[in-house]
Amino acid sequence: MCGIVGGIAQRNVVPILLEGLRRLEYRGYDSAGLAVVNGGELHRKRELGKVQGLAALVEADPMPGLLGIAHTRWATHGKPSTANAHPHTSGDKVAVVHNGIIENYAVLKAEQLAQGYEFTSQTDTEVIVHEVFGALRTAGNLLAAVRQAVQKLSGAYALGIISADEPDVLVACRKGSPLVIGVGIGEYFIASDVAALLPVTQRFMFLEEGDIAALRIGSVEIYNADGQRVERPIRESLLSPDAVDKGAYRHYMLKEIYEQPTAIAQTLEGRFINHRLQESAFGHNAAQMFDEVKAVQILACGTSYHAGLVARYWFEELARIPCQVEVASEFRYRKPMLAADTLVVTISQSGETADTLAALQEAKKLGAKYSLTLCNVPESSLVRESDLVLMTRAGPEIGVASTKAFTTQLVTLMLLVMALGRRFQLDAALEAKITAQLFSLPQKIDKVLRLNDPIRLLSEQFAEKNNALFLGRGAHYPIAMEGALKLKEISYIHAEAYPAGELKHGPLALIDADMPVITVAPNNSLLEKLQSNMEEVSARGGQLIVFMDETLVPAVNGAVQMIKVPQVDNEISPILYTIPLQLLAYHVAVLKGTDVDQPRNLAKSVTVE
Ligand code: AGP
Repeated sequence: MCGIVGGIAQRNVVPILLEGLRRLEYRGYDSAGLAVVNGGELHRKRELGKVQGLAALVEADPMPGLLGIAHTRWATHGKPSTANAHPHTSGDKVAVVHNGIIENYAVLKAEQLAQGYEFTSQTDTEVIVHEVFGALRTAGNLLAAVRQAVQKLSGAYALGIISADEPDVLVACRKGSPLVIGVGIGEYFIASDVAALLPVTQRFMFLEEGDIAALRIGSVEIYNADGQRVERPIRESLLSPDAVDKGAYRHYMLKEIYEQPTAIAQTLEGRFINHRLQESAFGHNAAQMFDEVKAVQILACGTSYHAGLVARYWFEELARIPCQVEVASEFRYRKPMLAADTLVVTISQSGETADTLAALQEAKKLGAKYSLTLCNVPESSLVRESDLVLMTRAGPEIGVASTKAFTTQLVTLMLLVMALGRRFQLDAALEAKITAQLFSLPQKIDKVLRLNDPIRLLSEQFAEKNNALFLGRGAHYPIAMEGALKLKEISYIHAEAYPAGELKHGPLALIDADMPVITVAPNNSLLEKLQSNMEEVSARGGQLIVFMDETLVPAVNGAVQMIKVPQVDNEISPILYTIPLQLLAYHVAVLKGTDVDQPRNLAKSVTVE
C-alpha cells in the first residue's frame, strides 16, 4: 500500500526521506517519488519501479532541501507509471503525497477541468493538489488551504503537503489512513508507520481521525476534525532501528518463519501468574465484559481470517462458545444480525486494514457492546478503536506474506478461548493442559523448522506446476487454506484448499498426475476419514504429498510422499502444521525466482477498500 514520508529540519532531509521509503518498501509499491522546496521552488523526481531507482536519480542529480515529502505508490487509480507516481503538483507551487482513495474524485475532476486545471495523471490524488492550490487563493496560507480543501474530499486519505511559497511548514492530515509524526530534536517528520523513521527518532505522535497538523522547525500544531487545537501525546517506540533488518537471512519471510519460536514465547510472556492466564492481559475491565459475553463474532481478512477460522473450532469444540467468523469486507456490507452481548473480535497484523476497521465500526453500529482486537501494531487504528486489546507481540513483520503474525494470532486466540471458556464449558484440567501445550510450542516449532531441508527438496517438484490442491479436515482445513494462500501469493501458482470431505463433490475432477495434492494429516480422530479421501486422490493418479505425524504411515495404496512432522498435542496441532506449509511456499517461490518479500500486486498493509 502507498507509503508516505516527509520532513522539515535544519539539515538536508532527502537522505532521510529515501531511507524512510526503503523502510516502507515492505508495504508493496510500484513507483516512488519525492519533492523538496528549495530556493522558493519545488523540485521533484519520480521513478517507476524500486526506491533504488529513485535514489540513483537523486545521486546523479542531487536535489537537497530542508523541507520535503516522498512516497511509494501502490496503484489504485491509473496504472503504475512515472506520470501516476506521487508527489503530484499543482501550478508548480504545491506538492502532495497521498495514501488512500478519494471516492468523489470524478466529480471534483470534472469541476476542476471546467475551471481550467490540467491533469497529467490518471490518479484520484491529483484532484487533492488542485483543490489545495485553488483554496490558497482565498485561504491565505497552506494550513488554511488544506483545511478548506479536505472538506470537499470524501473517502480515505493520509496526506503530506508542501508549498514552494511556504518553505517553513509541512502540513499533514489523516482520515481513514494511518499517519504518524516523528518528533526529533527541533525537527519533525511524518510517515505511514513508525518503521520508516526509526533511524531519526523513536518518539512519535499518532494523529487521530480528521486531525490536521502543521509541522515547523521547533513546533507542531495539531487541530482536530472540529478545528480545535489539540495535543497528541508523544509515545516512545520500543523498536530499535535494526528491528527491521534482514540479518543473515536471504528474505524477510524466511527470517520471520524462523522467528516464530521467539515470537510465540514473547506473546505468552507476562500473561500468566502461577501458570494461570490473567484476564487483565486483555484490558483492565476485561473480566467484567467477559462475564456478559454469550457469543463471539470474528472479523478479519486474508491470513488473519484464517486464524479466526481455526479459532472457531476451538471456541466451539473446547469451550462450547458459539462463534461466527466472517471476512470483514463481506460483513461490512451484508446487513448482518448481531446480538449486543456478542464479543466482536477483530484480528489484524497491521491494525490498519480498512475493511476490518470498517467492519468493527459496522458491528458497533449494529449494537455490539464489546470489542476486542488481536493485533501486532501498538497504537494502530484497531487498537485505538477497540474496548479490549491483546497484542500479538510478533515484532515487525516485513514480508508481505504473513507468517509469525499468523501463529501468534493463533496463540492469542487460544488465550481468549481459555479466558472466555472458563465461563462456559472449558474445565480447569483442560485449561491447564492447553497452558502447558502453549508453553511447549517454541521448542516444538524449533523441531519442525528442522524439516527445512526435506521441504526444500520437495519444493523442486513444484517448479513446473501451475496448480496445487490443499486438503485438511477440522481445524486443519483453515491451515490448508493458509498453506494455499501462502503458495499462491508468493509463488503465483494457483492453489486452492478444500475440506477433504468435499473433494468428491467437485474438485476430484481436477485430479491427474500433474496435480499435487498437499494433505495436512495430523494424528487425530479425523485421520481415518482423511485417509479415505487420500485414497480417492491416489486412485485417480493424483500426486499425494502428506504432512503427517512422524509415528504414522499413510494407509493409502499407491505412491505417497510423506513429510514427517514431530508428534504434537491435538489442541495446538494447527499451529505446528502451519510451519511446514510456510516453508514449502517459501522454497517454491525462491525456486521460481519471484519477489518473495514483495510479491507482485500485493501490499502489506491494505489501508484502502
Ligand atoms: C497474507 O499473507 C497477507 N499478508 C494478507 O492476507 C493479510 O493477512 C491481510 O491483508 C490482512 O492483513 P492484516 O492482518 O494486517 O489485517
